[in-house]
Amino acid sequence: MANHKDFHKKETYYKQAKVDGYRARSAYKLFDIQKRFNIFRRAFYILDIGCAPGSWLQVAKKYAEENLVKYSDQHYHRDHYKIMGVDIKKTSHIENVNIVKADITKLEIQTKFNLFFQSKLDLILSDASIKKTGNKFTDHLKQLDLCYKIMEIVRNNLKFKGNLVLKAFQGSDFVKFTKEVNPLFKILKSYKPMSSKKKSNEIFIIGLQKKN
Ligand SMILES: C[S@@+](CC[C@H](N)C(=O)[O-])C[C@H]1O[C@@H](n2cnc3c(N)ncnc32)[C@H](O)[C@@H]1O
Repeated sequence: MANHKDFHKKETYYKQAKVDGYRARSAYKLFDIQKRFNIFRRAFYILDIGCAPGSWLQVAKKYAEENLVKYSDQHYHRDHYKIMGVDIKKTSHIENVNIVKADITKLEIQTKFNLFFQSKLDLILSDASIKKTGNKFTDHLKQLDLCYKIMEIVRNNLKFKGNLVLKAFQGSDFVKFTKEVNPLFKILKSYKPMSSKKKSNEIFIIGLQKKN
């Protein structure tokens, strides 16, 4: 059972999401990550893995639209954005966002990326989460297994200097995983957003500026 503070936190963010028009309170985790790491800087081509019900997609769209105006300069700039969200579950429509109902661990998904983006990506977000069993150790390992598969997508699709946000669960093999991901980025951090429940062992890996 969630403790009192967690319950209160959950309620507060839930209410705020309703007021702000976000589909889930997870939106505030991404806002927090953005504030701290500026992951959306010059992000126009964005993939969101495990996107349902769609609050991260809403946030990604907001920043991509702002970037069209903000970065209209001589440096890396695009005159349009492309956002794709993938989930096993149905995600209801968001205008100008491509939502795909699919399992990210299946190889066929690469064809969808190629067809839609036709280019490497500026930012990959993953809030994808395995179905929890309640056993923290098993869940930690199962989630890491999913993370390894997502890292294959990252290696193949994220552009040079692109950024990554990836959800993991803390546990014995977490450090080993981060050590493997570390060489791929100029900067690698792990971060627990304010709105993430204290009791939860959820943690986000933030990879900044992919090396090649
Ligand atoms: C915490 S929710 C994501 C919430 C989302 N970021 C938002 O703000 O609305 C995690 C999602 O990951 C999805 N997921 C888990 N495994 C997946 C997989 N193999 N392929 C695609 N989606 C997956 C689940 O179906 C679930 O909807």
